[in-house]
This record gives sequence, C-alpha cells and structure tokens, in this order.
Amino acid sequence: MPELKVFLTAEQIDWLNEQLAAKISKDYASLLERDEELFVIVTLKGAAFFGADLVRKLTVPLKLDFVRLASYGSGTQSSGTVRILKDIETSPAGKHILVLDEIVDSGRTLQFLLQRLQASEPKSVRLCTLLTKPSRREVDVHVDYIGREVDDHFLVGYGLDHAERYRNLKDIHVLRLDE
Ligand code: IMP
Ligand code: MG
Repeated sequence: MPELKVFLTAEQIDWLNEQLAAKISKDYASLLERDEELFVIVTLKGAAFFGADLVRKLTVPLKLDFVRLASYGSGTQSSGTVRILKDIETSPAGKHILVLDEIVDSGRTLQFLLQRLQASEPKSVRLCTLLTKPSRREVDVHVDYIGREVDDHFLVGYGLDHAERYRNLKDIHVLRLDE
C-alpha cells in the first residue's frame, strides 16, 4: 500500500494562501487602472482547490477562467511535452492576467502557457503557484508569486493527484510508493 505522510496541514495551506492573496491584492490595487479588472486563469485539475480558495481572498475585481494542460502520464515523472485539453474561453488580449498553478516542477507547463498567452498581447501576465520544487526545474520560467518552496517529494492532496487519486484530501501529503 502507498504510504501518506502529512506535509502541510489545511491550516498551513490557508496561511500561505492568506500571504499570497495579501501581496497579490496590494500589487494589483496599484497596477489596475480605473474600470480595469484582473483576469485570473486557473490550471485544472490540480489548481481547482487552490484557485477557489485564493480568489476568494483577493480584494481586487476579477474575472475567472480555466485551462487544462497535460504533461503528466499516470506516473510521477513529467513526459516533457505539454498539450491543451481545455482552453480559456475569452481572449487574453489587452488584459492583466494572473495564472494560478498549484505546483511548479520542471516548469514546462507554465512556460508553455506563458508563451502562449504572451503571443496574444495581454497588458501583463504574472504567474502564481502555491508550491515550487526548484531542484526539479528544467526550464527557466519566472514565477512572480510563490507560496512556498519544497524539496523533491511527490505530493498529493489539496488538488494534487497521483493517477487521479487523493485530490480531495484536505492536507497535502508526501506519497511514498512501494518499491
Ligand atoms: P511541470 O510542467 O513539470 O512544472 O509540472 C507541473 C504540473 O505537474 C503541476 O501543475 C502538477 O499538476 C504536476 N505535478 C508536479 N509535481 C507534482 C507532485 O508532486 N504531485 C502531483 N502533481 C505534481
Ligand atoms: Mg497543475
């Protein structure tokens, strides 16, 4: 049986979200001009929970959209190629965009999404992730808002899955698979 060990409790996650939301709200309060709003893009499925929690803590006006990208198979290693399974539904052109992801690993997913968004000439694009694993980075992508850096563990819960399981766990756990 795979072994689960609590890594971040729901309370610790909430505190990280509070810190991120305070910073983001403050930055965009000065960046957004009158009548402008933020366009938040949440990456499915993993960031659904983080995205839902974070946007409810933001104090700037915003619109929400979702994108689904795939780079992982059913294992714990990235395949290195990114595909779009579900695209955003409105054009990012001329908007201030904030992308929310739950974890950055190789960086390929966010790099792919960033390049794609930049091609349609938004006013600005920033990236935000709850967690990042700097030791796993394969491409140089700048993430503007980071909840917390973590070591190279495979994590599940709070949206993070292994073969689609464990997304619904309230806490984030380290998953140890049988050898
Ligand atoms: P990247 O393209 O390698 O940066 O991968 C990013 C995506 O891989 C994340 O948005 C997650 O969906 C998934 N991922 C990366 N690390 C983990 C992990 O530890 N557990 C579960 N999913 C992960
Ligand atoms: Mg993700």
